[in-house]
Amino acid sequence: MRTIVEPFRIKSVEPVRMTSREEREAHVKKAGYNVFRLRAADVMIDLLTDSGTGAMSADQWGAMMRGDESYAGAASWYRFERAVTDIFGFTHVLPTHQGRAAERLLFSTLCKSGHVVPNNTHFDTTRANIEAAGATAVDLPIPEGRIPSASHPFKGNMDVAALRRLIAEVGKTRIPLCMLTVTNNSGGGQPVSMANVREVSAVCREHGIPLYIDACRFAENAWFIRTREAGYEDRMPIAIAREMFELADGCTMSAKKDGMANIGGFLATNDDRLAALETNLLILTEGYPTYGGMAGRDLEAIAEGLYEALEPDYLRYRITSTAYLGAHVAEAGVPIVQPPGGHAIYIDAAAFLPHVPPLALPGQALVVELYREAGIRAVEIGTLMFGTRDPATGTEKPAATELVRLAIPRRVYTQSHVDYVAEAVVNVWKRRDDVRGYRIVEQAPALRHFTAKLEPLA
Ligand SMILES: Cc1ncc(COP(=O)(O)O)c(C=O)c1O
Repeated sequence: MRTIVEPFRIKSVEPVRMTSREEREAHVKKAGYNVFRLRAADVMIDLLTDSGTGAMSADQWGAMMRGDESYAGAASWYRFERAVTDIFGFTHVLPTHQGRAAERLLFSTLCKSGHVVPNNTHFDTTRANIEAAGATAVDLPIPEGRIPSASHPFKGNMDVAALRRLIAEVGKTRIPLCMLTVTNNSGGGQPVSMANVREVSAVCREHGIPLYIDACRFAENAWFIRTREAGYEDRMPIAIAREMFELADGCTMSAKKDGMANIGGFLATNDDRLAALETNLLILTEGYPTYGGMAGRDLEAIAEGLYEALEPDYLRYRITSTAYLGAHVAEAGVPIVQPPGGHAIYIDAAAFLPHVPPLALPGQALVVELYREAGIRAVEIGTLMFGTRDPATGTEKPAATELVRLAIPRRVYTQSHVDYVAEAVVNVWKRRDDVRGYRIVEQAPALRHFTAKLEPLA
């Protein structure tokens, strides 16, 4: 059968309010042409992020009802700890309210000024937390990982030769840890092969550098390994995940992704001394070590969700459905980051709208057009998000790439919603020559994309 079938039935629904083009035009104008400023109720298909936006299963809701909200030693904590230890295998588990809290605990304990932390590609909160600790974050993707149109089965891999060069250049004592992000979100949701994890792990162990995995999308990565890497075709995703984590010394996790939860995360490590320091910090800023930043019911939802994320039927559907969206728009000629990632499709807005220069924000122009066309909310990852502005002269420097991300929430939208999105993207593609750029009329000094107001160029 070629039809993609969701491996779940729907027990509870939320309305998607239909809007007319005129209504959407008024909403987006009122929002200053910034979709972050829209009311979610005015969005028909929300592809802003896959983080914390998924639907929970009946088993997760059931587990939440038995959430034990005891301050210390709750039964929910022991269920959470058992699940995390079973899948990830590390000796210490510190529960946090989301991924970036785990990052802060890790980097503020391990990093200081002069330190360097390599990763295939740092996610922005990872980079920010490393820099907040005074250290430098370095991206070492393979060369294909930097080229949107280049195809590679494991485009999220780290460049191992570049890692060796970095260690030789700065010295191992200045590298307190090395990270690998699976899948590589900033690099387009691209997977990392087991061979690459093994090689990076070997280099790290040779130099005594601990390896931590940014595990947000570990289950999706395990599925890519099963379907693309020789020798793994018959292995269960949970076995692949366990093999991957055995090669590392710890991990950070945002359970808002492959934890199938709306909030939560954890830090895990095999290092007793570090765990003791991090636990002190956890108590100071998150909470008691048996709940950290979460309620007992959140711990339950994650303990269940981690296993659901690893179910082969779910992963087959998830990855196939994302690839289907990518294939449909690419067939019509839409330039996308190839191959499609696990959780999102990234449109190359610079190639989509070559007549809109980077400083006229082609990615944002496409985001606004998708909302106008069909009520779809995507996110710009280009000059609005990453462009820099000299505060003295007001001179703008564009970002390296102009991308638009369509991130797919887990188990939320049906295949007909996916068809609707594909149709809308292709409709905008057909009238792309008429799409104009934007200019910023109001912006904050940092993270301007969240609140900026824009206006269309004449
Ligand atoms: C790869 C990666 N690491 C870390 C994070 C941070 O997680 P959180 O949003 O839960 O703080 C994210 C969130 O999108 C992510 O994609």
